[in-house]
Amino acid sequence: MRLAGKAAVITGAARGLGRACALRFAQEGADLLLLDVAGDLPGVPYPLGSASQLDHTAELCRDHGVAVLVRQADVRELRQVEAAVGAAVERFGRIDVLVNNAGIAAPSGKAAHEIDESEWQLMIDVDLSGAWRTIRAVGGRMSRQRSGSIVNIASTAGLVGYRHFAGYVAAKHGLVGLTKAAALDYAPLRVRVNALCPGSVRDDSQAEGRMLSEIARSLEVPVDEHEETFLQAQPMNALIEPEDVASAALWLASDESRHVTGSVLTVDGGFTTR
Ligand SMILES: NC(=O)c1ccc[n+]([C@@H]2O[C@H](COP(=O)([O-])OP(=O)(O)OC[C@H]3O[C@@H](n4cnc5c(N)ncnc54)[C@H](O)[C@@H]3O)[C@@H](O)[C@H]2O)c1
Repeated sequence: MRLAGKAAVITGAARGLGRACALRFAQEGADLLLLDVAGDLPGVPYPLGSASQLDHTAELCRDHGVAVLVRQADVRELRQVEAAVGAAVERFGRIDVLVNNAGIAAPSGKAAHEIDESEWQLMIDVDLSGAWRTIRAVGGRMSRQRSGSIVNIASTAGLVGYRHFAGYVAAKHGLVGLTKAAALDYAPLRVRVNALCPGSVRDDSQAEGRMLSEIARSLEVPVDEHEETFLQAQPMNALIEPEDVASAALWLASDESRHVTGSVLTVDGGFTTR
C-alpha cells in the first residue's frame, strides 16, 4: 500500500489515463478527489468525459475501500478548481498528491498559421494553464505541510514536435517548463514536481480512453493507419497501455521517488530517444 494514508487529487479522472491513475492509486490506499469537467467544451470537436463516466471511476475506486470525492469542475476556472480542492481538504484534512492529467488533444490537424486565436487559447488554457491553476490551488497547502508530490501528465509532445499539432506541442512543452520551475520553487519545502511524458497510448475499453482515435481523426487518417505509423516509429514496437502510465505516476506520487523532483520521465518505448 504505497499511498496508504495519503489524499490525492486527480484531474480528468472520468476516463482514460485519469481513470487508470485513479484505480492504481485506490489499489495502493489513497483517498481521492476525482475532478473532471464531465461535459463537452465548445471548441473541442469530440466528446469529453461524462458525469456517468466520472461516477463509474469513483465506484471502481471505492471497491478498493478508499474514500472518494467527486467534483465536476473545469480546470479553466480557478474558482471551480479551488472549490473542489477546498472540499477535499475539508474531507481528508490534507492533499499529498496532485496528478494534473486533464487535457484535450484537439482542435489540431492544422499548420500553425491556420489555427484560430480562439483554438490556440483554448488549448493553452486547458493543457497548460489548467495545470497551473491546480498547482495554485494546492501549492500553498503542500508547502505548509512540507510534503507533497505533483505529477504533470505532459506528453512526448512536451519534448519533440509533431506536425500539425502546434497548440498541443506548445502547451505540453510549456507544462514541462512549468514542472521544472515549480520544482525549484518548492524543493526547499519538500514538495516535488515532476512531468510524465507518455507516448501514444492505446485506447482502452476499461479506461474508455479515446485520445488516439481523436488524434487520428484530427489528422484525417484511419485509426489503424495512425496506430501503424506510431508502431513503426516506436523502437519497442508497441503502443503504451494506460496501466504503464499509471504505474509511473504511482512511483512519482509515492515516497519511493522521494529525491526525484524536476524530472521528466518518458513512458514512450524509446520514441523520443531516436
Ligand atoms: N492518450 C494518449 O495517447 C496520451 C499521450 C500522451 C499524453 N496524454 C495526456 O494524458 C492526459 C489524459 O489523456 P487521455 O488520453 O486520458 O484523454 P481523454 O480525452 O480520454 O481524457 C481526458 C479527460 O480530461 C477531461 N477534461 C478535458 N478538459 C477538461 C477541463 N477543462 N477541465 C476538467 N477536465 C477536463 C475530459 O473530460 C476527460 O475525462 C492528457 O493531458 C493528454 O494530453 C495522452
